[in-house]
Amino acid sequence: MAKITAGLGTSHIPLLGHIMDKGDSGDDKWAPIFDGFQFTKQWIREQKPDVVILVYNDHATSFDMKFIPTFAIGCGEEYRPADEGYGARPVPVVKGAPQLAWHITESLIQQGFDMTIVNEMDVDHGLTVPLSMVFGEVDEWPCQVIPLAVNTVVYPSPTGARCLALGNAIRAAIDQYPEDINVQVWGTGGMSHQLLGERAGLINKEWDLAFMDDLKSDYDKLAAISQVEYIRESGTEGCEMVMWLIMRGALNHQINEMHRHYHVPVSNTALGHIIYENADLDVDNEEDKA
Ligand code: DHB
Ligand code: FE
Repeated sequence: MAKITAGLGTSHIPLLGHIMDKGDSGDDKWAPIFDGFQFTKQWIREQKPDVVILVYNDHATSFDMKFIPTFAIGCGEEYRPADEGYGARPVPVVKGAPQLAWHITESLIQQGFDMTIVNEMDVDHGLTVPLSMVFGEVDEWPCQVIPLAVNTVVYPSPTGARCLALGNAIRAAIDQYPEDINVQVWGTGGMSHQLLGERAGLINKEWDLAFMDDLKSDYDKLAAISQVEYIRESGTEGCEMVMWLIMRGALNHQINEMHRHYHVPVSNTALGHIIYENADLDVDNEEDKA
């Protein structure tokens, strides 16, 4: 049977992708940021996920004001790194997992999540920067990826409660997949930031740290945060953090926090990163489910 073994949260700061693409990630200046991923790089080599369900937001790259899916799932064979204005990042093409993606789609729709199905799209920094931070510079990404795109760009984004429930539904879908594969769910984006307007540059370190603390066991508290509260406390782009709740909802209630890294500031935000492994699940015990 397929199994979700771990979840990972990370910001997707485009500057960090640019630094890696220039070959500058070893510079002393950036060491405090990239050193926080040394553990991760070793961990992922040991974990060897077959598939990563990568929850991210498209930044008006493949989707724009013409159509704005709240939740979209990539069922395609592959996705090219997008040209976001400076040419496409020189990173490998992302290989999809169409068979599993269609299974998840069917299950999610049957569970009441009316997903938008995407067969062709380019993927922007929201997806490629987390891959680079975790896997480093590689000729090929070492796993298949199912992109799950969430609208966090145009108000209203989905609620935290809905995101947590979507994570639960993803877990139920994976539980029913017969192939023996190791699946991880990543939640990306954040931390607090606002890129435009009067409050551009806003960072709320206290909020970020409380979010990372509460995600482990008090995620119901986080799920109750309204979109307006996200904007007020964490800036207009802070609501990207709802995507971490999808990751959390896909894991068991009992998890082990394996690693955490926080560095502020990085570009216009803070770099937040967390790794959870599922504690052994008693499948008959509802208490074990988040
Ligand atoms: C920055 C952060 C983001 O999440 C993003 O999508 C774009 C820019 C930043 O901090 O610069
Ligand atoms: Fe972003």
